[in-house]
Amino acid sequence: MKMNTDINKLKNKIILGDSLKELKKIPSKSVDLIFADPPYFMQTGAGILYRIDGNKYKGVNDEWDKFGSYKEYDNFTKKWLTQCKRILKDNGSIWVMGTFHNIYRLGYIIQNLNFWVINDITWEKTNPTPNFRGTKFVNSNENLIWFVKSKNSKFTFNYKTMKNLNDNKQMRSVWKFPICSGKERLKDHDGNKLHNTQKPEKLLERIILATTKRNDIILDPFFGTGTTGAVAKKLHRNFIGIENNIEYVKYANERIHNVKSIQDDDYSLIDHINSKFDQKIIYPKIINLIKENKLKTKYLYNSRKEKALLNLEGKIEINKNEYSIHKATELFENGRYLNGWRYWYIKIEDNYILIDDIRKGINQSEFK
Ligand SMILES: C[S@@+](CC[C@H](N)C(=O)[O-])C[C@H]1O[C@@H](n2cnc3c(N)ncnc32)[C@H](O)[C@@H]1O
Repeated sequence: MKMNTDINKLKNKIILGDSLKELKKIPSKSVDLIFADPPYFMQTGAGILYRIDGNKYKGVNDEWDKFGSYKEYDNFTKKWLTQCKRILKDNGSIWVMGTFHNIYRLGYIIQNLNFWVINDITWEKTNPTPNFRGTKFVNSNENLIWFVKSKNSKFTFNYKTMKNLNDNKQMRSVWKFPICSGKERLKDHDGNKLHNTQKPEKLLERIILATTKRNDIILDPFFGTGTTGAVAKKLHRNFIGIENNIEYVKYANERIHNVKSIQDDDYSLIDHINSKFDQKIIYPKIINLIKENKLKTKYLYNSRKEKALLNLEGKIEINKNEYSIHKATELFENGRYLNGWRYWYIKIEDNYILIDDIRKGINQSEFK
Protein backbone atom coordinates (compact mmCIF):
# COMPACT_ATOMS: atom_id res chain seq x y z
CA MET A 1 0.00 0.00 0.00
CA LYS A 2 1.33 3.44 -0.90
CA MET A 3 1.96 5.60 2.12
CA ASN A 4 0.61 9.11 2.02
CA THR A 5 3.58 11.01 3.31
CA ASP A 6 2.26 14.54 3.32
CA ILE A 7 0.15 15.20 6.39
CA ASN A 8 -0.64 18.69 5.11
CA LYS A 9 -2.67 17.21 2.27
CA LEU A 10 -4.92 15.48 4.81
CA LYS A 11 -5.44 18.52 7.00
CA ASN A 12 -9.06 19.58 7.45
CA LYS A 13 -10.37 16.74 5.26
CA ILE A 14 -12.78 13.92 5.94
CA ILE A 15 -11.61 10.62 4.50
CA LEU A 16 -14.47 8.37 3.42
CA GLY A 17 -13.42 4.82 4.19
CA ASP A 18 -12.66 2.11 6.70
CA SER A 19 -10.43 3.32 9.52
CA LEU A 20 -8.51 0.07 9.58
CA LYS A 21 -7.39 0.73 6.01
CA GLU A 22 -7.17 4.51 6.02
CA LEU A 23 -5.15 4.84 9.24
CA LYS A 24 -2.36 2.84 7.57
CA LYS A 25 -1.92 5.61 5.00
CA ILE A 26 -1.32 8.36 7.57
CA PRO A 27 2.36 9.14 8.24
CA SER A 28 3.99 8.15 11.53
CA LYS A 29 4.32 10.69 14.34
CA SER A 30 2.27 13.24 12.46
CA VAL A 31 -0.66 14.24 14.67
CA ASP A 32 -0.83 16.01 18.04
CA LEU A 33 -4.08 14.57 19.34
CA ILE A 34 -6.34 11.63 18.58
CA PHE A 35 -9.93 11.58 19.74
CA ALA A 36 -11.77 8.32 19.17
CA ASP A 37 -15.42 7.59 19.86
CA PRO A 38 -15.46 4.04 18.45
CA PRO A 39 -18.35 1.59 18.11
CA TYR A 40 -19.55 0.44 21.53
CA PHE A 41 -20.61 -3.13 20.62
CA MET A 42 -23.76 -2.51 22.65
CA GLN A 43 -25.46 -5.70 21.57
CA THR A 44 -28.90 -4.15 21.91
CA GLY A 45 -31.59 -6.46 20.54
CA ALA A 46 -34.17 -5.59 17.96
CA GLY A 47 -36.87 -5.14 20.68
CA ILE A 48 -38.74 -1.86 20.46
CA LEU A 49 -38.62 0.53 23.42
CA TYR A 50 -41.30 3.13 24.02
CA ARG A 51 -40.96 6.52 25.66
CA ILE A 52 -43.35 7.53 28.44
CA ASP A 53 -45.32 9.55 25.86
CA GLY A 54 -45.80 6.38 23.79
CA ASN A 55 -43.37 7.32 21.02
CA LYS A 56 -40.77 4.81 19.87
CA TYR A 57 -37.27 5.29 21.24
CA LYS A 58 -34.47 4.84 18.69
CA GLY A 59 -31.40 3.57 20.55
CA VAL A 60 -28.04 2.41 19.20
CA ASN A 61 -28.82 -0.58 17.04
CA ASP A 62 -26.84 0.55 14.02
CA GLU A 63 -24.96 -1.71 11.64
CA TRP A 64 -21.71 0.07 12.52
CA ASP A 65 -22.05 -1.14 16.10
CA LYS A 66 -22.33 -4.84 15.27
CA PHE A 67 -19.55 -7.36 15.84
CA GLY A 68 -19.66 -11.17 15.90
CA SER A 69 -18.06 -11.57 19.32
CA TYR A 70 -15.92 -9.87 21.94
CA LYS A 71 -12.91 -11.47 20.25
CA GLU A 72 -13.79 -9.75 16.98
CA TYR A 73 -14.37 -6.43 18.77
CA ASP A 74 -11.05 -6.72 20.63
CA ASN A 75 -9.15 -7.51 17.43
CA PHE A 76 -10.69 -4.50 15.74
CA THR A 77 -9.77 -2.32 18.76
CA LYS A 78 -6.17 -3.60 18.86
CA LYS A 79 -5.73 -2.87 15.15
CA TRP A 80 -6.89 0.74 15.20
CA LEU A 81 -5.16 1.55 18.45
CA THR A 82 -1.88 0.11 17.17
CA GLN A 83 -2.10 2.38 14.14
CA CYS A 84 -2.94 5.34 16.37
CA LYS A 85 0.20 4.71 18.41
CA ARG A 86 2.29 4.85 15.25
CA ILE A 87 0.59 8.01 13.95
CA LEU A 88 0.67 10.00 17.19
CA LYS A 89 3.61 12.29 17.86
CA ASP A 90 5.73 11.17 20.81
CA ASN A 91 4.37 13.94 23.02
CA GLY A 92 0.80 13.73 21.72
CA SER A 93 -2.31 12.58 23.57
CA ILE A 94 -5.13 10.15 22.81
CA TRP A 95 -8.65 10.22 24.15
CA VAL A 96 -11.13 7.38 23.76
CA MET A 97 -14.65 7.35 25.05
CA GLY A 98 -17.27 4.72 25.60
CA THR A 99 -19.97 3.25 27.80
CA PHE A 100 -19.79 0.32 30.22
CA HIS A 101 -20.24 -1.95 27.18
CA ASN A 102 -16.78 -1.25 25.83
CA ILE A 103 -14.78 1.07 28.08
CA TYR A 104 -13.24 -1.70 30.19
CA ARG A 105 -12.19 -3.62 27.08
CA LEU A 106 -10.68 -0.42 25.67
CA GLY A 107 -8.82 0.26 28.93
CA TYR A 108 -7.41 -3.28 29.08
CA ILE A 109 -6.17 -3.11 25.49
CA ILE A 110 -4.75 0.39 25.97
CA GLN A 111 -2.62 -0.83 28.87
CA ASN A 112 -1.61 -4.02 27.04
CA LEU A 113 -0.35 -1.88 24.15
CA ASN A 114 1.89 -0.08 26.67
CA PHE A 115 0.21 3.26 26.48
CA TRP A 116 0.35 5.32 29.68
CA VAL A 117 -2.98 6.43 31.17
CA ILE A 118 -3.15 10.01 32.47
CA ASN A 119 -6.78 10.30 33.64
CA ASP A 120 -10.15 8.69 33.28
CA ILE A 121 -12.98 11.15 33.02
CA THR A 122 -16.62 10.59 33.81
CA TRP A 123 -18.97 12.56 31.65
CA GLU A 124 -22.13 12.92 33.71
CA LYS A 125 -25.12 13.54 31.45
CA THR A 126 -27.39 16.12 33.00
CA ASN A 127 -30.29 15.04 30.78
CA PRO A 128 -29.81 11.28 30.26
CA THR A 129 -32.22 9.05 28.37
CA PRO A 130 -34.53 7.51 31.01
CA ASN A 131 -34.59 3.80 31.72
CA PHE A 132 -37.98 3.30 30.10
CA ARG A 133 -38.76 -0.09 31.63
CA GLY A 134 -37.58 0.84 35.12
CA THR A 135 -35.42 -2.28 35.35
CA LYS A 136 -32.11 -0.74 36.46
CA PHE A 137 -30.39 2.55 37.22
CA VAL A 138 -30.54 5.18 34.52
CA ASN A 139 -27.31 5.13 32.52
CA SER A 140 -26.27 8.73 33.04
CA ASN A 141 -22.55 8.65 32.35
CA GLU A 142 -20.00 7.82 29.70
CA ASN A 143 -16.32 7.46 30.39
CA LEU A 144 -13.26 8.82 28.69
CA ILE A 145 -9.67 7.66 28.98
CA TRP A 146 -6.87 10.12 28.35
CA PHE A 147 -3.57 8.43 27.64
CA VAL A 148 -0.18 8.98 26.00
CA LYS A 149 2.46 6.91 24.22
CA SER A 150 4.76 6.41 27.19
CA LYS A 151 5.38 7.37 30.78
CA ASN A 152 8.06 9.82 29.60
CA SER A 153 5.81 11.68 27.20
CA LYS A 154 5.82 15.45 27.59
CA PHE A 155 2.19 15.88 26.67
CA THR A 156 0.31 19.17 26.57
CA PHE A 157 -1.92 19.89 29.53
CA ASN A 158 -3.20 23.45 29.70
CA TYR A 159 -3.63 23.31 33.44
CA LYS A 160 -4.08 27.03 34.02
CA THR A 161 -6.49 27.37 31.12
CA MET A 162 -8.64 24.63 32.67
CA LYS A 163 -8.43 26.26 36.09
CA ASN A 164 -9.40 29.61 34.64
CA LEU A 165 -12.43 28.03 32.96
CA ASN A 166 -13.42 26.50 36.29
CA ASP A 167 -13.76 29.65 38.44
CA ASN A 168 -10.08 29.42 39.34
CA LYS A 169 -10.44 26.00 40.93
CA GLN A 170 -8.53 22.95 39.68
CA MET A 171 -10.57 21.17 37.00
CA ARG A 172 -11.76 17.77 38.22
CA SER A 173 -12.33 14.49 36.42
CA VAL A 174 -16.14 14.47 36.56
CA TRP A 175 -17.58 16.66 33.84
CA LYS A 176 -21.23 17.63 33.65
CA PHE A 177 -22.73 18.38 30.26
CA PRO A 178 -26.10 17.71 28.68
CA ILE A 179 -26.31 15.21 25.83
CA CYS A 180 -26.45 16.77 22.40
CA SER A 181 -29.95 18.10 21.70
CA GLY A 182 -31.87 21.06 20.29
CA LYS A 183 -30.29 23.08 17.48
CA GLU A 184 -26.92 21.35 17.88
CA ARG A 185 -28.42 17.94 17.04
CA LEU A 186 -28.14 17.25 13.31
CA LYS A 187 -31.35 16.22 11.54
CA ASP A 188 -31.70 14.39 8.24
CA HIS A 189 -33.89 15.72 5.42
CA ASP A 190 -36.99 14.17 7.02
CA GLY A 191 -36.27 15.98 10.30
CA ASN A 192 -35.17 12.80 12.10
CA LYS A 193 -32.07 12.55 14.30
CA LEU A 194 -29.23 11.99 11.84
CA HIS A 195 -26.89 10.05 14.11
CA ASN A 196 -27.70 8.14 17.27
CA THR A 197 -24.51 9.06 19.10
CA GLN A 198 -23.63 12.63 18.12
CA LYS A 199 -21.49 14.02 20.95
CA PRO A 200 -21.96 17.47 22.53
CA GLU A 201 -19.57 20.15 21.32
CA LYS A 202 -18.88 21.21 24.93
CA LEU A 203 -17.24 17.85 25.59
CA LEU A 204 -14.88 18.18 22.63
CA GLU A 205 -14.23 21.80 23.49
CA ARG A 206 -12.88 20.86 26.90
CA ILE A 207 -10.71 18.03 25.55
CA ILE A 208 -9.24 20.22 22.83
CA LEU A 209 -8.63 23.24 25.05
CA ALA A 210 -7.02 21.04 27.71
CA THR A 211 -4.68 18.95 25.60
CA THR A 212 -3.79 20.83 22.40
CA LYS A 213 -2.33 24.12 21.27
CA ARG A 214 -3.51 26.46 18.53
CA ASN A 215 -2.87 24.99 15.01
CA ASP A 216 -2.33 21.44 16.32
CA ILE A 217 -3.60 18.51 14.22
CA ILE A 218 -6.39 16.36 15.67
CA LEU A 219 -7.29 12.98 14.18
CA ASP A 220 -10.69 11.36 14.71
CA PRO A 221 -10.93 7.85 13.20
CA PHE A 222 -14.69 7.48 13.93
CA PHE A 223 -15.82 10.89 12.79
CA GLY A 224 -19.61 10.39 12.68
CA THR A 225 -21.26 13.78 12.28
CA GLY A 226 -17.93 15.60 12.57
CA THR A 227 -18.22 17.02 16.08
CA THR A 228 -14.43 16.89 16.46
CA GLY A 229 -13.90 18.74 13.17
CA ALA A 230 -16.49 21.42 13.96
CA VAL A 231 -14.95 22.17 17.36
CA ALA A 232 -11.39 22.00 16.01
CA LYS A 233 -12.22 24.61 13.38
CA LYS A 234 -13.96 26.85 15.91
CA LEU A 235 -10.90 26.70 18.20
CA HIS A 236 -8.25 27.22 15.48
CA ARG A 237 -7.02 23.63 15.36
CA ASN A 238 -6.74 21.36 12.30
CA PHE A 239 -8.61 18.07 12.02
CA ILE A 240 -8.47 14.84 10.01
CA GLY A 241 -11.60 12.68 10.07
CA ILE A 242 -12.23 9.12 8.94
CA GLU A 243 -15.78 7.84 8.58
CA ASN A 244 -17.12 4.94 6.51
CA ASN A 245 -20.72 6.15 6.18
CA ILE A 246 -21.11 8.40 3.14
CA GLU A 247 -24.23 10.05 4.53
CA TYR A 248 -22.49 11.10 7.75
CA VAL A 249 -19.51 12.39 5.75
CA LYS A 250 -21.81 14.55 3.63
CA TYR A 251 -23.54 16.09 6.65
CA ALA A 252 -20.26 16.52 8.55
CA ASN A 253 -18.70 18.42 5.63
CA GLU A 254 -21.70 20.71 5.48
CA ARG A 255 -21.66 21.21 9.25
CA ILE A 256 -17.96 22.09 9.38
CA HIS A 257 -18.27 24.39 6.37
CA ASN A 258 -20.81 26.46 8.34
CA VAL A 259 -18.64 26.74 11.47
CA LYS A 260 -16.90 30.06 12.07
CA SER A 261 -13.56 30.11 13.87
CA ILE A 262 -13.57 32.30 16.96
CA GLN A 263 -12.25 35.72 16.03
CA ASP A 264 -9.06 37.05 17.58
CA ASP A 265 -10.99 40.00 19.02
CA ASP A 266 -13.50 37.76 20.81
CA TYR A 267 -12.16 38.23 24.30
CA SER A 268 -14.50 35.68 25.87
CA LEU A 269 -12.53 32.68 24.61
CA ILE A 270 -9.47 33.76 22.67
CA ASP A 271 -7.05 33.56 25.63
CA HIS A 272 -8.19 30.01 26.25
CA ILE A 273 -7.81 29.11 22.59
CA ASN A 274 -4.26 30.45 22.64
CA SER A 275 -3.51 28.68 25.98
CA LYS A 276 -2.34 32.08 27.15
CA PHE A 277 -2.54 31.22 30.84
CA ASP A 278 -0.19 28.28 30.29
CA GLN A 279 2.48 29.96 28.24
CA LYS A 280 5.83 29.78 29.93
CA ILE A 281 7.59 33.14 29.94
CA ILE A 282 11.33 32.82 29.56
CA TYR A 283 13.16 35.72 31.17
CA PRO A 284 16.69 36.68 30.07
CA LYS A 285 19.73 35.31 31.87
CA ILE A 286 21.89 37.69 33.86
CA ILE A 287 24.69 37.53 31.26
CA ASN A 288 22.25 38.73 28.60
CA LEU A 289 21.06 41.59 30.78
CA ILE A 290 24.69 42.69 31.14
CA LYS A 291 25.41 42.35 27.41
CA GLU A 292 22.25 44.26 26.54
CA ASN A 293 23.24 47.01 28.97
CA LYS A 294 20.13 46.49 31.07
CA LEU A 295 22.19 45.89 34.20
CA LYS A 296 24.72 48.69 34.34
CA THR A 297 26.43 47.95 37.60
CA LYS A 298 29.64 46.58 39.07
CA TYR A 299 28.08 45.56 42.37
CA LEU A 300 25.04 43.73 43.68
CA TYR A 301 23.65 44.41 47.15
CA ASN A 302 21.55 42.36 49.54
CA SER A 303 18.86 43.80 51.80
CA ARG A 304 21.48 44.53 54.46
CA LYS A 305 23.31 46.62 51.81
CA GLU A 306 26.22 44.17 51.80
CA LYS A 307 28.08 44.46 48.54
CA ALA A 308 29.25 41.73 46.06
CA LEU A 309 31.25 42.18 42.87
CA LEU A 310 29.41 41.19 39.68
CA ASN A 311 31.73 40.39 36.77
CA LEU A 312 31.01 40.70 33.06
CA GLU A 313 30.21 36.97 32.85
CA GLY A 314 27.28 37.49 35.22
CA LYS A 315 29.06 35.77 38.14
CA ILE A 316 29.70 37.04 41.62
CA GLU A 317 33.39 37.15 42.47
CA ILE A 318 34.47 36.56 46.06
CA ASN A 319 38.14 36.02 46.93
CA LYS A 320 38.94 35.34 43.25
CA ASN A 321 36.29 32.56 43.12
CA GLU A 322 33.22 32.81 40.86
CA TYR A 323 29.69 31.96 42.03
CA SER A 324 26.29 32.05 40.41
CA ILE A 325 23.99 34.73 41.82
CA HIS A 326 22.12 31.90 43.62
CA LYS A 327 25.15 30.01 44.97
CA ALA A 328 26.65 33.23 46.30
CA THR A 329 23.68 33.65 48.65
CA GLU A 330 25.03 30.71 50.70
CA LEU A 331 28.10 32.75 51.56
CA PHE A 332 26.02 35.65 52.79
CA GLU A 333 23.30 33.64 54.57
CA ASN A 334 25.23 31.04 56.56
CA GLY A 335 24.83 28.25 53.96
CA ARG A 336 21.18 28.99 53.01
CA TYR A 337 20.73 28.68 49.25
CA LEU A 338 18.27 31.31 48.03
CA ASN A 339 16.94 32.45 44.69
CA GLY A 340 19.48 35.11 43.68
CA TRP A 341 16.97 36.92 41.51
CA ARG A 342 14.90 37.74 44.60
CA TYR A 343 17.97 38.35 46.80
CA TRP A 344 20.17 40.82 44.97
CA TYR A 345 19.57 44.50 44.25
CA ILE A 346 21.40 47.05 42.18
CA LYS A 347 21.91 50.57 43.42
CA ILE A 348 20.67 53.44 41.29
CA GLU A 349 21.46 56.73 42.95
CA ASP A 350 20.07 56.16 46.46
CA ASN A 351 17.59 53.45 45.51
CA TYR A 352 18.11 49.66 45.61
CA ILE A 353 16.20 47.79 42.90
CA LEU A 354 15.61 44.02 42.85
CA ILE A 355 17.28 42.38 39.84
CA ASP A 356 14.24 40.10 39.33
CA ASP A 357 12.12 43.19 38.66
CA ILE A 358 14.67 44.46 36.17
CA ARG A 359 14.64 41.22 34.12
CA LYS A 360 10.83 41.10 34.20
CA GLY A 361 10.56 44.79 33.36
CA ILE A 362 7.85 45.25 35.97
CA ASN A 363 7.21 47.91 38.60
CA GLN A 364 10.30 47.77 40.66
CA SER A 365 10.39 46.89 44.35
CA GLU A 366 13.00 49.13 45.82
CA PHE A 367 14.27 50.38 49.12
CA LYS A 368 16.41 53.27 50.11
C1 LIG B 1 -19.89 6.48 18.16
S1 LIG B 1 -19.96 7.06 16.55
C2 LIG B 1 -19.05 8.60 16.55
C3 LIG B 1 -19.91 9.80 16.71
C4 LIG B 1 -19.16 11.11 16.64
N1 LIG B 1 -18.26 11.26 17.74
C5 LIG B 1 -20.10 12.31 16.57
O1 LIG B 1 -20.08 13.18 17.47
O2 LIG B 1 -20.88 12.37 15.62
C6 LIG B 1 -18.92 5.98 15.69
C7 LIG B 1 -18.82 6.23 14.20
O3 LIG B 1 -17.81 5.39 13.66
C8 LIG B 1 -18.19 5.00 12.36
N2 LIG B 1 -17.45 3.75 12.10
C9 LIG B 1 -17.64 2.53 12.65
N3 LIG B 1 -16.74 1.65 12.21
C10 LIG B 1 -15.94 2.33 11.34
C11 LIG B 1 -14.80 1.96 10.57
N4 LIG B 1 -14.32 0.73 10.58
N5 LIG B 1 -14.23 2.92 9.81
C12 LIG B 1 -14.72 4.19 9.78
N6 LIG B 1 -15.79 4.58 10.49
C13 LIG B 1 -16.40 3.67 11.27
C14 LIG B 1 -19.70 4.85 12.44
O4 LIG B 1 -20.30 5.00 11.15
C15 LIG B 1 -20.08 5.96 13.41
O5 LIG B 1 -20.46 7.13 12.73
